[in-house]
Amino acid sequence: MANKAMDYDLSQLGSQMSQLTGVRAIMKDIIETLRQAGGREFINLSAGNPVIIPEVEQLWRDCTAELLASDEYGEVVCRYGSSQGYAPLIEAIVNDFNQRYGLSLTDRNILITPGSQALYFYAANAFGGYTEAGTLKQIVLPLSPEYTGYGGVSLFKEALLAYKPTLDLDEKAHRFKYRPDFSQLVIDERTGCVILSRPCNPTGNVISDEELTKITELAANQGNRNQVPVILDAAYAPPYPALNFTEMKPQFGGNLLHCLSLSKAGLPGERIGVAIGDPELIEVLESFQTNLCIHSPRYGQAMAARAIASGKLGHIAENVIRSYYQNKFTVLEETLDATLPKDVPWFLHRGEGAIFSWLWLKDLPMTDWELYQELKKHDVIVVPGSTFFPGLKEEWQHKHECIRISLTATNEEIATAMRRLASVVEKVYSVTSSAKI
Ligand SMILES: Cc1ncc(COP(=O)(O)O)c(C=O)c1O
Repeated sequence: MANKAMDYDLSQLGSQMSQLTGVRAIMKDIIETLRQAGGREFINLSAGNPVIIPEVEQLWRDCTAELLASDEYGEVVCRYGSSQGYAPLIEAIVNDFNQRYGLSLTDRNILITPGSQALYFYAANAFGGYTEAGTLKQIVLPLSPEYTGYGGVSLFKEALLAYKPTLDLDEKAHRFKYRPDFSQLVIDERTGCVILSRPCNPTGNVISDEELTKITELAANQGNRNQVPVILDAAYAPPYPALNFTEMKPQFGGNLLHCLSLSKAGLPGERIGVAIGDPELIEVLESFQTNLCIHSPRYGQAMAARAIASGKLGHIAENVIRSYYQNKFTVLEETLDATLPKDVPWFLHRGEGAIFSWLWLKDLPMTDWELYQELKKHDVIVVPGSTFFPGLKEEWQHKHECIRISLTATNEEIATAMRRLASVVEKVYSVTSSAKI
C-alpha cells in the first residue's frame, strides 16, 4: 500500500487525517524492526499498552461473567442507548465522585465517549479551529512535551500551539522537572481551549495544584468575554487508574473539564472515556458525539458500572496498579543511578506518575533518532523524544536530546536495558559528534 500510487482522490482533510502523527509514525519502524528480528530478542520499552496485571484482569473477567449472567445483558448489547452514555455507569461515576471529592454532580455533568482520545478530538474541534467569522481559535498546550496524540486531534493543524516549559534542575542528583512557563504562556481571546495531561505522558510530570489553578484562572478570566475551557486529561490520575506517585488533588468545576480514561485501569480494548464538567460543555460534546458515532459501545460501560459501583476498581487502582508501575520506576532509576557516568550531563525527569520515564541527555552528540537507532543495535527499543512536542512551533535543541522509556517490561528487562543504555551513552559522549561508535 505504502509504495503504490493512490487510486483515489482525497480531500484536504482526507490527506491530513490519513497521515500518522507523532509516535504512531515511529511505531511503524518499531513493528518493522521486530518483524525482521530473526532470532534476536529485543527489549521493547516503546509500548504504551498497559501490562495485563492478573488481579486487574480478574476484576474485568468477573464483571463480564456477572453481566453475562444478568437480565441486563440483552438491554446492554441488543439495543441502542443514549448518546450521553449508559445510565448505570453515569450513576456509578456520579456517586463515586460525589462521595470521594465532596462534589454535587448530577448525570448532566457526565459524558461517556469511546475512549478519551475521542473526547479530545471533539473538544479540539468544538472549541478550536475557525469561528463563523473566520478567526482561528488556538488549542493551547501550556507545557511541552505533551501527549503525542494531541498532534492529530485538530482538523486544523495550525490551531495547535504549545509552549516551552521552564526546567527545575538538580544537577547533583541528575534529576529535573518541567514547569509551565507563566512568563510566556498566553491564554486570551485567541484561545479556543487548553489541553494538558496530569500526570503527563511522556514525562511522568504532575504539575502542581497551584500551577493548574493558575492555568484555569487565566482561562476563566477573559474580562467580559466567555471563559476558555481547560480540558484536563486525567488518563493516569486518581481515582482510577491512580497512577500518581506523588500527592495530587484532582480539580473540578468552572471551566475545567475533567477527563478520565479506563484504558490504564486495564480496559483499553473496551474504549471508555469519561468527561466530567459543566453541563454546557457536556451538551456541546454530546452533540458532537451523536453526529460522529451515536454513542459509545455499551458492553464495556456495563462492565465498568459494576467495577466502579462495587468500589473494586478504585481499590485495585490504589493498591495494585499504582505500586506495580511505581516499583518499575524505582528499578529504572536505581539502575540508571548505578550505571550512567556521573560526568555525563544526563537528567531523569522526576517520576511522579504515568507508565513512562523520560531521560534528557543534555548536549547529546547525536540526535534522539540516532540514539534510538544505536540502542536498537543493542536490542533495546525506546521512543525518540522529538515526537512528543506537538504544536511547538519554535526550534529547540532539547527536543532532540530526550527519550521516552516505557515501564511496561519486567524488572529484569528494565534493568538489563538500562545497563545497555548506560554503556551506549558512555560511548556516545566519549567520542566526537561526527565519530561513529
Ligand atoms: C495522556 C493520554 N491521554 C489519552 C490517551 C488515550 O487514551 P484512551 O485509550 O482513553 O483513548 C492516552 C493513551 O495512551 C494518554 O497517554
